[in-house]
Amino acid sequence: MEKTFIMVKPDGVQRGLIGEVVARFEKKGFQLVAAKLMSVSSELAEQHYAEHKEKPFFGELVDFITLGPVFAMVWQGPNVIATARQMMGKTNPSEALPGTIRGDFGVNVGMNIIHGSDSQASAEREIALWFDEAELLSYEKTINRWI
Ligand code: PPS
Repeated sequence: MEKTFIMVKPDGVQRGLIGEVVARFEKKGFQLVAAKLMSVSSELAEQHYAEHKEKPFFGELVDFITLGPVFAMVWQGPNVIATARQMMGKTNPSEALPGTIRGDFGVNVGMNIIHGSDSQASAEREIALWFDEAELLSYEKTINRWI
C-alpha cells in the first residue's frame, strides 16, 4: 500500500492546526501509520531539504523548520502521495485553492503549514529519514472495507 510523509510545520503546530490536518486525512479515508511531535535539528533539516541546497531560500527554509516542534506523520492509502498534495494545495498559499489546507489557512510561501512528499521516490527517502522501520505500524482498520 502506498505511503507518504506528511509534516505539520512549526507554524501549523503553533497555530493549533495539527488536529485540523489529521482530521482532514482521517476523514478522507487514509490510514495513519506513524506520528510524532519532534524538534528538528539543522542536520535533519538540511538532509530533508537537500534537493533545494542551491536555492536562494535554503537557509531560510532550514531556519524556519528548526524554529519549533513539527508533527511528523506517515499516511497510507491508494494514491495517497498525489492526493495528499491536492489536499495541501499549491506551495504558495496565495495560489492555493479554497478547500485546500494551504488555501484555507496559509498566506506565506515560507510558512505554508504543511509538507508532503512529491513523488514515490521522495516519500520513500523522507519516511526512512524521519522514522525508524519499527515506528511504522501495521494494523487492520475495518472501516477500510468501506472506502
Ligand atoms: S522549487 O523551487 O519549485 O523547487 O521549490 P518549491 O517546491 O516551490 O518549494 C520547496 C520548498 O521550499 C519552500 N519555499 C520557500 N521557503 C522560504 N522562502 C521561500 N521564498 C520559499 N519558496 C519555497 C516551500 O514551502 C517548499 O517547502 P516544502 O516543505 O517542500 O513544501
